[in-house]
Amino acid sequence: MAPRKVIIDTDPGLGEPGSDIDDGLAIALAVRDPRVEVLGLTIVNGNVTLETGVHVARNLADRLGVPDLPVLAGAEAPLSRDMEPVRALFEAVPGHRGRPEDQEMRAPSSSVHAADWMIEQVERFPGEITVLAIGPMTNLALAIQRSPTFAANVREFVLMAGSATGYAQNISVVGDFNTYVDPEALDEVVRSGGRLTMVGLDQTSRVLLTRADADRMLASADPFSLWAGECTHAWIDYLARAFPRRPEHADGCFLHDPLVIAAHLDPGICEWEAAHVEVEVVSDLARGLVVADRGLSLTVPGTPNATVATNTDVDAFRRLFFSRIDLSPTPDPHV
Ligand code: BDR
Ligand code: CA
Repeated sequence: MAPRKVIIDTDPGLGEPGSDIDDGLAIALAVRDPRVEVLGLTIVNGNVTLETGVHVARNLADRLGVPDLPVLAGAEAPLSRDMEPVRALFEAVPGHRGRPEDQEMRAPSSSVHAADWMIEQVERFPGEITVLAIGPMTNLALAIQRSPTFAANVREFVLMAGSATGYAQNISVVGDFNTYVDPEALDEVVRSGGRLTMVGLDQTSRVLLTRADADRMLASADPFSLWAGECTHAWIDYLARAFPRRPEHADGCFLHDPLVIAAHLDPGICEWEAAHVEVEVVSDLARGLVVADRGLSLTVPGTPNATVATNTDVDAFRRLFFSRIDLSPTPDPHV
């Protein structure tokens, strides 16, 4: 069977001081899985600035042996929110160091805006391309605004956003980072009429990468795994300082974005339900809140507009994840 076409819309920070490693690991998982063909990486402001995200993605493509993988630059900022206060939260973590200022940054592989590039690709292959969105949804919203047929021509949007079974709770008490950064953008996506699948923080917070996993990656003969193991220790060190009251971060980090890719590769990894999904865009207190109504309350839910993950087979995820991240001839079973 021909591999399924995907575009990964992402805010990768793997290897950057104080930046989440999960986008980079998610990209590696997809690039190394023969069931999908990654057409390109569209970069969005989020975990890192747009410029840094492009730089990280180009270097990552080299490390993964796909230097010609298209890397397109998209939105530099959310649709209408100020990014600076969000960035300041990361910079306020004790011991945070930014990147050296004089470092030369790599350019995108083309000057076409990521939203326009996605529109072009989807017009070329209508109904065939799945967009795996693992950063704030700004690029997707721009593509929807710029092309009235974009959402209908995307085979499926698979979103790392919200939480279907409880509060998301990472950047804020009710919001996941991707929604919190640009709630208006996710709102556009949710209202677009496109086919939506949502994997929320309630599920992604069940899949941890621990220091013991990182030690095994460090012992691998696969240079990517070895490097990713080093980055994993550095990111857990940062999280332990950032979240001293969360015991899971003393020893591990969440594999949010890799679970989204895995759930697309192998939908049996999650359990799914239909839901009516809406995004809070008015209240400051509830900024980043995604309400996924699965019909469990007294109120009558709206018409379902999404399929949401409600449970995860953690062992099946870990088997798939490590089989792709560590390509050494005799990888450890890890689970
Ligand atoms: C999401 O935000 C970032 O921290 C991760 O890369 C993930 O995409 C989780 O809320
Ligand atoms: Ca991300």
